[in-house]
Amino acid sequence: MSSHTRIACVMVGLPARGKTYIAQKVCRYLKWLGVSTKVFNVGNYRRKLHGSNQTHSFFDPNNVLGEIARKQAAIEALEDMIKWFLKENGTVALFDATNSTRDRRNFILEYCKKYEIQVIFIESICQDENIILENIMDVKLCSPDYKDMDPEKAAEDFRARISHYEQAYEPITESDLTYIKLINVGSQVVINMIQGYLQSRIVFYLMNLHIIPRNIFFSRHGESVYNLMGKIGGDSDLSPRGKKYAFALPKLIKDNLGDQPLTVWTSTMRRTIQTSEYLPYPKLQWKALDELDASSCDGMTYEEIEKKYPEDYANRDEDKFNYRYRGGESYRDVVSRLEPVIMELERQQNILIIGHQAILRCIYGYFQNLSQDDLPYVKIPLHTVIKLTPKAYNCEEVRYKVDIDAVDTHRPKPLKQKVNGGVNSEINQC
Ligand code: ATP
Ligand code: F6P
Repeated sequence: MSSHTRIACVMVGLPARGKTYIAQKVCRYLKWLGVSTKVFNVGNYRRKLHGSNQTHSFFDPNNVLGEIARKQAAIEALEDMIKWFLKENGTVALFDATNSTRDRRNFILEYCKKYEIQVIFIESICQDENIILENIMDVKLCSPDYKDMDPEKAAEDFRARISHYEQAYEPITESDLTYIKLINVGSQVVINMIQGYLQSRIVFYLMNLHIIPRNIFFSRHGESVYNLMGKIGGDSDLSPRGKKYAFALPKLIKDNLGDQPLTVWTSTMRRTIQTSEYLPYPKLQWKALDELDASSCDGMTYEEIEKKYPEDYANRDEDKFNYRYRGGESYRDVVSRLEPVIMELERQQNILIIGHQAILRCIYGYFQNLSQDDLPYVKIPLHTVIKLTPKAYNCEEVRYKVDIDAVDTHRPKPLKQKVNGGVNSEINQC
Protein backbone atom coordinates (compact mmCIF):
# COMPACT_ATOMS: atom_id res chain seq x y z
CA MET A 1 0.00 0.00 0.00
CA SER A 2 1.40 3.46 -0.89
CA SER A 3 2.02 6.25 1.63
CA HIS A 4 0.03 8.61 -0.60
CA THR A 5 -2.64 10.45 1.45
CA ARG A 6 -6.18 9.39 0.63
CA ILE A 7 -9.14 11.13 2.19
CA ALA A 8 -12.81 10.32 1.76
CA CYS A 9 -15.04 13.23 2.77
CA VAL A 10 -18.33 11.56 3.55
CA MET A 11 -21.29 13.94 3.44
CA VAL A 12 -23.98 13.50 6.10
CA GLY A 13 -27.38 15.11 6.48
CA LEU A 14 -31.04 15.20 5.57
CA PRO A 15 -32.07 16.07 2.00
CA ALA A 16 -31.82 19.73 0.94
CA ARG A 17 -29.13 20.57 3.50
CA GLY A 18 -26.54 21.68 0.92
CA LYS A 19 -24.49 18.46 0.85
CA THR A 20 -24.06 18.44 -2.92
CA TYR A 21 -23.35 22.15 -2.90
CA ILE A 22 -20.62 21.71 -0.27
CA ALA A 23 -19.14 18.64 -1.98
CA GLN A 24 -18.94 20.42 -5.34
CA LYS A 25 -17.33 23.48 -3.81
CA VAL A 26 -14.68 21.53 -1.92
CA CYS A 27 -13.95 19.60 -5.11
CA ARG A 28 -13.58 22.75 -7.19
CA TYR A 29 -11.34 24.37 -4.57
CA LEU A 30 -9.01 21.40 -4.18
CA LYS A 31 -8.79 20.76 -7.92
CA TRP A 32 -7.89 24.39 -8.42
CA LEU A 33 -5.09 23.93 -5.88
CA GLY A 34 -3.90 20.95 -7.89
CA VAL A 35 -5.17 18.19 -5.56
CA SER A 36 -6.66 15.24 -7.42
CA THR A 37 -10.28 15.32 -6.24
CA LYS A 38 -13.58 13.79 -7.36
CA VAL A 39 -17.21 13.74 -6.24
CA PHE A 40 -19.11 10.44 -6.10
CA ASN A 41 -22.80 11.31 -6.04
CA VAL A 42 -24.85 8.32 -4.95
CA GLY A 43 -28.06 9.93 -6.31
CA ASN A 44 -26.62 9.57 -9.82
CA TYR A 45 -25.88 5.87 -9.22
CA ARG A 46 -29.43 5.39 -7.87
CA ARG A 47 -30.95 6.99 -10.96
CA LYS A 48 -28.76 4.90 -13.24
CA LEU A 49 -29.61 1.65 -11.45
CA HIS A 50 -33.25 2.18 -10.57
CA GLY A 51 -34.51 5.04 -12.77
CA SER A 52 -35.25 8.64 -11.88
CA ASN A 53 -39.00 8.37 -11.43
CA GLN A 54 -39.12 6.96 -7.89
CA THR A 55 -41.66 8.52 -5.54
CA HIS A 56 -41.06 9.31 -1.88
CA SER A 57 -42.01 5.77 -0.76
CA PHE A 58 -38.78 4.49 -2.32
CA PHE A 59 -36.99 6.38 0.50
CA ASP A 60 -39.24 5.09 3.32
CA PRO A 61 -36.97 3.25 5.82
CA ASN A 62 -39.76 0.65 6.18
CA ASN A 63 -39.65 -0.13 2.45
CA VAL A 64 -37.36 -3.16 2.47
CA LEU A 65 -36.89 -3.32 -1.31
CA GLY A 66 -36.23 0.42 -1.45
CA GLU A 67 -33.64 0.04 1.31
CA ILE A 68 -31.84 -2.74 -0.59
CA ALA A 69 -31.93 -0.74 -3.83
CA ARG A 70 -30.51 2.34 -2.13
CA LYS A 71 -27.73 0.37 -0.49
CA GLN A 72 -26.86 -1.16 -3.85
CA ALA A 73 -26.38 2.33 -5.31
CA ALA A 74 -24.17 3.31 -2.34
CA ILE A 75 -22.03 0.18 -2.77
CA GLU A 76 -21.50 0.83 -6.48
CA ALA A 77 -20.47 4.41 -5.79
CA LEU A 78 -18.17 3.23 -3.00
CA GLU A 79 -16.54 0.64 -5.23
CA ASP A 80 -15.95 3.23 -7.94
CA MET A 81 -14.48 5.56 -5.34
CA ILE A 82 -12.03 2.89 -4.16
CA LYS A 83 -11.07 2.09 -7.77
CA TRP A 84 -10.43 5.76 -8.38
CA PHE A 85 -8.19 6.02 -5.33
CA LEU A 86 -6.21 2.94 -6.31
CA LYS A 87 -6.05 3.15 -10.09
CA GLU A 88 -6.09 6.88 -10.66
CA ASN A 89 -4.08 7.82 -7.63
CA GLY A 90 -6.88 10.01 -6.27
CA THR A 91 -6.26 12.09 -3.15
CA VAL A 92 -9.63 13.42 -1.97
CA ALA A 93 -13.03 11.92 -2.77
CA LEU A 94 -16.33 13.45 -1.75
CA PHE A 95 -18.86 10.73 -1.11
CA ASP A 96 -22.11 12.60 -1.62
CA ALA A 97 -25.19 10.92 -0.15
CA THR A 98 -27.30 11.42 2.96
CA ASN A 99 -25.31 8.76 4.91
CA SER A 100 -27.75 9.58 7.64
CA THR A 101 -27.67 6.39 9.70
CA ARG A 102 -24.92 5.06 11.92
CA ASP A 103 -25.20 1.75 10.17
CA ARG A 104 -24.46 3.24 6.75
CA ARG A 105 -21.58 5.32 8.07
CA ASN A 106 -20.00 2.33 9.81
CA PHE A 107 -20.28 0.37 6.59
CA ILE A 108 -18.41 3.12 4.71
CA LEU A 109 -15.82 3.41 7.49
CA GLU A 110 -15.07 -0.31 7.45
CA TYR A 111 -14.78 -0.31 3.69
CA CYS A 112 -12.37 2.64 3.68
CA LYS A 113 -10.31 1.24 6.53
CA LYS A 114 -9.39 -1.79 4.42
CA TYR A 115 -7.71 0.52 1.90
CA GLU A 116 -6.15 2.88 4.45
CA ILE A 117 -8.38 5.72 3.36
CA GLN A 118 -8.89 8.41 5.99
CA VAL A 119 -12.54 9.30 6.51
CA ILE A 120 -13.78 12.73 7.45
CA PHE A 121 -17.51 13.19 7.86
CA ILE A 122 -19.00 16.51 6.80
CA GLU A 123 -22.42 16.84 8.40
CA SER A 124 -24.75 19.67 7.45
CA ILE A 125 -27.52 20.37 9.93
CA CYS A 126 -30.06 23.05 9.10
CA GLN A 127 -33.14 23.86 11.13
CA ASP A 128 -33.95 27.05 9.25
CA GLU A 129 -37.23 26.26 7.48
CA ASN A 130 -36.82 29.18 5.08
CA ILE A 131 -33.46 27.94 3.83
CA ILE A 132 -34.82 24.42 3.39
CA LEU A 133 -37.83 25.71 1.48
CA GLU A 134 -35.59 27.85 -0.74
CA ASN A 135 -33.34 24.87 -1.40
CA ILE A 136 -36.34 22.79 -2.44
CA MET A 137 -37.70 25.50 -4.72
CA ASP A 138 -34.33 26.56 -6.21
CA VAL A 139 -32.65 23.23 -6.67
CA LYS A 140 -34.70 20.15 -5.94
CA LEU A 141 -37.56 20.90 -8.32
CA CYS A 142 -35.03 21.04 -11.18
CA SER A 143 -33.57 17.65 -10.21
CA PRO A 144 -33.85 14.85 -12.79
CA ASP A 145 -36.02 13.11 -10.13
CA TYR A 146 -38.80 15.58 -10.88
CA LYS A 147 -38.38 16.16 -14.59
CA ASP A 148 -41.70 17.14 -16.22
CA MET A 149 -43.55 16.96 -12.88
CA ASP A 150 -45.92 19.64 -11.65
CA PRO A 151 -43.80 21.79 -9.23
CA GLU A 152 -46.36 21.65 -6.44
CA LYS A 153 -46.57 17.87 -6.59
CA ALA A 154 -42.79 17.64 -6.79
CA ALA A 155 -42.35 19.85 -3.70
CA GLU A 156 -44.91 17.75 -1.80
CA ASP A 157 -43.16 14.53 -2.76
CA PHE A 158 -39.76 15.96 -1.76
CA ARG A 159 -41.11 16.99 1.64
CA ALA A 160 -42.41 13.46 2.14
CA ARG A 161 -38.96 12.17 1.19
CA ILE A 162 -37.41 14.42 3.87
CA SER A 163 -39.89 13.06 6.46
CA HIS A 164 -38.82 9.49 5.67
CA TYR A 165 -35.19 10.41 6.20
CA GLU A 166 -36.06 12.24 9.43
CA GLN A 167 -37.49 9.01 10.85
CA ALA A 168 -34.18 7.21 10.46
CA TYR A 169 -31.68 10.08 10.87
CA GLU A 170 -28.96 9.67 13.48
CA PRO A 171 -26.69 12.72 13.73
CA ILE A 172 -23.02 12.01 14.39
CA THR A 173 -22.22 11.78 18.11
CA GLU A 174 -19.27 9.36 18.23
CA SER A 175 -16.29 11.11 19.78
CA ASP A 176 -13.75 8.86 18.05
CA LEU A 177 -14.79 9.91 14.55
CA THR A 178 -13.21 12.64 12.45
CA TYR A 179 -15.91 15.12 11.56
CA ILE A 180 -17.01 18.66 10.98
CA LYS A 181 -20.60 19.69 11.63
CA LEU A 182 -21.87 22.80 9.89
CA ILE A 183 -24.91 24.01 11.77
CA ASN A 184 -27.29 26.47 10.11
CA VAL A 185 -24.94 27.27 7.23
CA GLY A 186 -21.87 27.67 9.38
CA SER A 187 -23.36 29.89 12.09
CA GLN A 188 -22.03 27.18 14.37
CA VAL A 189 -19.22 24.79 13.46
CA VAL A 190 -18.17 21.75 15.49
CA ILE A 191 -14.96 19.94 14.62
CA ASN A 192 -13.61 16.70 16.02
CA MET A 193 -10.36 14.77 15.57
CA ILE A 194 -9.22 16.67 12.48
CA GLN A 195 -5.70 15.62 11.58
CA GLY A 196 -3.11 16.63 9.02
CA TYR A 197 -2.65 19.47 6.58
CA LEU A 198 -5.21 18.55 3.95
CA GLN A 199 -8.01 17.85 6.43
CA SER A 200 -7.30 21.19 8.12
CA ARG A 201 -7.41 23.02 4.79
CA ILE A 202 -10.77 21.46 3.98
CA VAL A 203 -12.15 22.42 7.40
CA PHE A 204 -10.85 25.97 7.15
CA TYR A 205 -12.38 26.33 3.70
CA LEU A 206 -15.75 25.02 4.92
CA MET A 207 -15.71 27.49 7.80
CA ASN A 208 -15.54 30.38 5.33
CA LEU A 209 -18.50 29.50 3.11
CA HIS A 210 -21.78 31.41 3.08
CA ILE A 211 -24.84 31.37 0.81
CA ILE A 212 -25.89 35.02 0.89
CA PRO A 213 -26.64 36.09 -2.71
CA ARG A 214 -23.92 38.33 -4.13
CA ASN A 215 -22.00 39.29 -7.25
CA ILE A 216 -18.31 39.12 -7.95
CA PHE A 217 -17.10 41.52 -10.62
CA PHE A 218 -13.77 41.22 -12.42
CA SER A 219 -12.14 43.85 -14.54
CA ARG A 220 -8.63 44.18 -15.83
CA HIS A 221 -7.07 47.60 -15.38
CA GLY A 222 -7.73 50.06 -18.20
CA GLU A 223 -5.38 49.82 -21.16
CA SER A 224 -1.85 50.69 -19.99
CA VAL A 225 1.09 52.31 -21.76
CA TYR A 226 2.86 48.92 -21.74
CA ASN A 227 -0.23 47.23 -23.24
CA LEU A 228 -0.04 49.71 -26.12
CA MET A 229 3.64 48.88 -26.67
CA GLY A 230 2.98 45.13 -26.50
CA LYS A 231 5.23 44.81 -23.43
CA ILE A 232 4.44 42.47 -20.56
CA GLY A 233 4.64 43.27 -16.86
CA GLY A 234 6.05 46.57 -15.67
CA ASP A 235 4.28 49.19 -13.61
CA SER A 236 3.19 51.66 -16.26
CA ASP A 237 0.38 54.22 -16.14
CA LEU A 238 -2.91 54.00 -17.98
CA SER A 239 -3.00 55.05 -21.63
CA PRO A 240 -5.46 57.83 -22.57
CA ARG A 241 -8.01 55.10 -23.51
CA GLY A 242 -7.32 53.33 -20.23
CA LYS A 243 -8.08 56.55 -18.37
CA LYS A 244 -11.37 56.84 -20.24
CA TYR A 245 -12.25 53.33 -19.13
CA ALA A 246 -11.50 54.23 -15.49
CA PHE A 247 -13.87 57.14 -15.90
CA ALA A 248 -16.63 54.97 -17.42
CA LEU A 249 -16.40 52.18 -14.83
CA PRO A 250 -18.42 53.75 -11.95
CA LYS A 251 -21.55 54.14 -14.10
CA LEU A 252 -21.40 50.56 -15.33
CA ILE A 253 -21.11 49.24 -11.78
CA LYS A 254 -23.79 51.56 -10.42
CA ASP A 255 -26.22 50.61 -13.23
CA ASN A 256 -25.69 47.02 -12.24
CA LEU A 257 -25.66 47.14 -8.47
CA GLY A 258 -27.85 50.13 -7.66
CA ASP A 259 -27.22 51.18 -4.08
CA GLN A 260 -25.90 47.83 -2.89
CA PRO A 261 -22.61 47.95 -1.00
CA LEU A 262 -19.42 46.91 -2.79
CA THR A 263 -15.75 46.70 -1.96
CA VAL A 264 -13.09 47.23 -4.61
CA TRP A 265 -9.89 45.20 -4.54
CA THR A 266 -6.87 46.25 -6.59
CA SER A 267 -3.28 45.12 -6.83
CA THR A 268 -0.49 47.42 -5.65
CA MET A 269 0.33 48.41 -9.24
CA ARG A 270 -0.33 51.84 -10.69
CA ARG A 271 -2.56 50.65 -13.51
CA THR A 272 -5.12 48.92 -11.24
CA ILE A 273 -5.07 51.71 -8.65
CA GLN A 274 -5.59 54.31 -11.39
CA THR A 275 -8.48 52.27 -12.80
CA SER A 276 -10.20 52.34 -9.42
CA GLU A 277 -9.77 56.10 -9.03
CA TYR A 278 -13.37 57.21 -9.64
CA LEU A 279 -15.14 54.31 -7.95
CA PRO A 280 -17.02 55.61 -4.88
CA TYR A 281 -16.57 52.46 -2.77
CA PRO A 282 -14.16 51.28 -0.07
CA LYS A 283 -10.91 50.05 -1.65
CA LEU A 284 -8.30 47.57 -0.60
CA GLN A 285 -4.90 46.92 -2.18
CA TRP A 286 -3.56 43.35 -2.24
CA LYS A 287 0.07 42.55 -3.03
CA ALA A 288 -1.16 39.04 -3.83
CA LEU A 289 -3.13 40.52 -6.75
CA ASP A 290 0.00 41.87 -8.51
CA GLU A 291 0.52 40.47 -12.01
CA LEU A 292 2.41 37.22 -12.61
CA ASP A 293 6.10 38.00 -12.21
CA ALA A 294 7.89 37.51 -15.54
CA SER A 295 11.18 38.57 -13.89
CA SER A 296 13.92 38.60 -16.56
CA CYS A 297 11.25 38.94 -19.28
CA ASP A 298 9.46 41.80 -17.55
CA GLY A 299 9.16 44.79 -19.89
CA MET A 300 9.75 42.74 -23.05
CA THR A 301 7.32 42.00 -25.89
CA TYR A 302 6.43 38.37 -26.67
CA GLU A 303 8.45 38.68 -29.90
CA GLU A 304 11.52 39.85 -27.96
CA ILE A 305 11.15 36.95 -25.53
CA GLU A 306 10.88 34.47 -28.41
CA LYS A 307 14.06 35.86 -29.96
CA LYS A 308 16.10 36.08 -26.76
CA TYR A 309 14.86 32.91 -25.02
CA PRO A 310 13.51 30.63 -27.80
CA GLU A 311 13.68 27.54 -25.64
CA ASP A 312 11.81 29.14 -22.76
CA TYR A 313 9.25 30.49 -25.16
CA ALA A 314 8.63 27.04 -26.59
CA ASN A 315 8.47 25.50 -23.11
CA ARG A 316 5.84 28.00 -22.08
CA ASP A 317 3.72 27.07 -25.09
CA GLU A 318 4.18 23.40 -24.25
CA ASP A 319 2.89 23.71 -20.68
CA LYS A 320 1.82 27.23 -19.87
CA PHE A 321 0.34 26.42 -16.46
CA ASN A 322 3.60 25.00 -15.11
CA TYR A 323 6.13 27.11 -17.00
CA ARG A 324 7.99 29.39 -14.58
CA TYR A 325 9.74 32.50 -15.96
CA ARG A 326 13.47 32.51 -15.08
CA GLY A 327 13.54 33.92 -11.56
CA GLY A 328 9.83 34.62 -11.79
CA GLU A 329 6.52 32.83 -11.49
CA SER A 330 4.33 30.23 -13.19
CA TYR A 331 0.54 30.14 -13.24
CA ARG A 332 0.84 27.36 -10.67
CA ASP A 333 2.80 29.73 -8.40
CA VAL A 334 0.13 32.40 -8.87
CA VAL A 335 -2.63 29.98 -7.89
CA SER A 336 -0.78 29.28 -4.61
CA ARG A 337 -0.34 32.94 -3.80
CA LEU A 338 -4.00 33.63 -4.61
CA GLU A 339 -5.29 31.03 -2.17
CA PRO A 340 -5.80 33.58 0.66
CA VAL A 341 -7.58 35.85 -1.81
CA ILE A 342 -10.00 33.05 -2.69
CA MET A 343 -10.59 32.29 0.98
CA GLU A 344 -11.39 35.95 1.65
CA LEU A 345 -13.58 36.12 -1.46
CA GLU A 346 -15.63 33.23 -0.08
CA ARG A 347 -16.23 35.21 3.11
CA GLN A 348 -17.18 38.48 1.41
CA GLN A 349 -20.31 39.73 -0.36
CA ASN A 350 -20.18 42.07 -3.42
CA ILE A 351 -16.61 42.51 -4.58
CA LEU A 352 -15.06 44.14 -7.65
CA ILE A 353 -11.53 42.97 -8.39
CA ILE A 354 -9.50 45.23 -10.63
CA GLY A 355 -6.67 43.00 -11.62
CA HIS A 356 -4.35 41.74 -14.30
CA GLN A 357 -4.68 39.22 -17.11
CA ALA A 358 -2.95 36.23 -15.48
CA ILE A 359 -4.34 36.96 -12.02
CA LEU A 360 -7.93 37.22 -13.19
CA ARG A 361 -7.52 34.04 -15.24
CA CYS A 362 -6.57 32.19 -12.06
CA ILE A 363 -9.45 33.59 -10.00
CA TYR A 364 -11.92 33.08 -12.84
CA GLY A 365 -10.59 29.52 -13.23
CA TYR A 366 -11.50 28.83 -9.62
CA PHE A 367 -15.08 30.04 -10.00
CA GLN A 368 -15.66 28.44 -13.39
CA ASN A 369 -13.90 25.17 -12.59
CA LEU A 370 -11.38 25.37 -15.43
CA SER A 371 -8.69 22.79 -16.01
CA GLN A 372 -5.03 23.71 -15.65
CA ASP A 373 -4.69 23.38 -19.44
CA ASP A 374 -7.42 25.88 -20.22
CA LEU A 375 -6.95 28.37 -17.39
CA PRO A 376 -3.87 30.22 -18.79
CA TYR A 377 -5.65 30.85 -22.08
CA VAL A 378 -8.99 32.23 -20.90
CA LYS A 379 -9.96 35.43 -22.64
CA ILE A 380 -10.11 38.27 -20.15
CA PRO A 381 -10.15 41.24 -22.54
CA LEU A 382 -9.35 44.81 -21.56
CA HIS A 383 -12.28 47.19 -21.04
CA THR A 384 -14.68 44.41 -20.14
CA VAL A 385 -16.40 43.73 -16.83
CA ILE A 386 -17.19 40.11 -16.01
CA LYS A 387 -19.97 39.54 -13.50
CA LEU A 388 -20.19 36.18 -11.77
CA THR A 389 -23.23 35.32 -9.69
CA PRO A 390 -22.80 32.17 -7.61
CA LYS A 391 -25.75 29.77 -7.95
CA ALA A 392 -26.41 26.41 -6.32
CA TYR A 393 -23.80 24.37 -8.19
CA ASN A 394 -22.14 26.88 -10.54
CA CYS A 395 -21.74 30.55 -11.39
CA GLU A 396 -23.82 32.55 -13.83
CA GLU A 397 -21.68 34.77 -16.02
CA VAL A 398 -22.40 38.05 -17.81
CA ARG A 399 -19.78 40.09 -19.68
CA TYR A 400 -20.13 43.84 -20.23
CA LYS A 401 -17.91 45.27 -22.93
CA VAL A 402 -17.34 48.99 -22.52
CA ASP A 403 -17.31 50.84 -25.83
CA ILE A 404 -13.75 52.17 -25.55
CA ASP A 405 -11.20 50.52 -27.84
CA ALA A 406 -8.20 48.74 -26.37
CA VAL A 407 -5.43 46.49 -27.67
CA ASP A 408 -5.86 42.73 -27.54
CA THR A 409 -3.20 41.13 -25.29
CA HIS A 410 -4.47 37.56 -25.61
CA ARG A 411 -2.12 34.97 -27.14
CA PRO A 412 -4.15 31.97 -28.26
CA LYS A 413 -3.25 28.42 -27.37
CA PRO A 414 -0.90 27.02 -30.02
CA LEU A 415 -3.01 24.74 -32.21
CA LYS A 416 -0.61 21.83 -32.53
CA GLN A 417 0.00 21.38 -28.80
CA LYS A 418 -0.66 17.78 -27.85
CA VAL A 419 -2.54 16.88 -24.71
CA ASN A 420 -3.08 13.20 -23.87
CA GLY A 421 -2.05 12.33 -27.40
CA GLY A 422 -4.72 14.51 -29.01
CA VAL A 423 -5.11 18.04 -30.30
CA ASN A 424 -6.42 20.47 -27.69
CA SER A 425 -10.08 21.28 -27.77
CA GLU A 426 -11.36 24.83 -27.66
CA ILE A 427 -11.70 26.44 -24.26
CA ASN A 428 -15.15 25.88 -22.93
CA GLN A 429 -16.11 29.36 -21.83
CA CYS A 430 -19.04 29.39 -19.48
P1 ATP B 1 -30.03 15.85 -1.36
O1 ATP B 1 -29.80 15.02 -0.16
O2 ATP B 1 -31.45 15.87 -1.81
O3 ATP B 1 -29.10 15.56 -2.48
P2 ATP B 1 -28.42 18.13 -0.55
O4 ATP B 1 -28.24 18.15 0.92
O5 ATP B 1 -27.30 17.58 -1.37
O6 ATP B 1 -29.78 17.40 -0.92
P3 ATP B 1 -28.12 20.45 -2.17
O7 ATP B 1 -28.60 19.88 -3.45
O8 ATP B 1 -26.66 20.63 -2.04
O9 ATP B 1 -28.72 19.63 -0.96
O10 ATP B 1 -28.82 21.86 -1.92
C1 ATP B 1 -28.34 23.00 -2.58
C2 ATP B 1 -28.73 24.23 -1.85
O11 ATP B 1 -28.23 24.18 -0.51
C3 ATP B 1 -28.11 25.48 -2.47
O12 ATP B 1 -29.14 26.29 -2.95
C4 ATP B 1 -27.32 26.15 -1.35
O13 ATP B 1 -27.57 27.54 -1.29
C5 ATP B 1 -27.84 25.48 -0.09
N1 ATP B 1 -26.83 25.30 0.95
C6 ATP B 1 -25.50 25.37 0.84
N2 ATP B 1 -24.90 25.14 2.02
C7 ATP B 1 -25.86 24.89 2.91
C8 ATP B 1 -25.88 24.56 4.29
N3 ATP B 1 -24.72 24.44 4.97
N4 ATP B 1 -27.08 24.34 4.87
C9 ATP B 1 -28.23 24.45 4.17
N5 ATP B 1 -28.29 24.75 2.86
C10 ATP B 1 -27.12 24.98 2.23
O1 F6P C 1 0.15 41.70 -21.37
C1 F6P C 1 -0.52 42.01 -20.20
C2 F6P C 1 -0.19 41.00 -19.08
O2 F6P C 1 -0.94 41.37 -17.92
C3 F6P C 1 1.31 40.91 -18.73
O3 F6P C 1 1.76 41.88 -17.80
C4 F6P C 1 1.44 39.48 -18.21
O4 F6P C 1 2.78 38.97 -18.22
C5 F6P C 1 0.58 38.76 -19.21
O5 F6P C 1 -0.51 39.64 -19.48
C6 F6P C 1 0.03 37.45 -18.68
O6 F6P C 1 -0.60 36.79 -19.77
P1 F6P C 1 0.13 35.47 -20.46
O7 F6P C 1 0.25 34.56 -19.33
O8 F6P C 1 -0.85 35.07 -21.56
O9 F6P C 1 1.49 35.84 -21.01
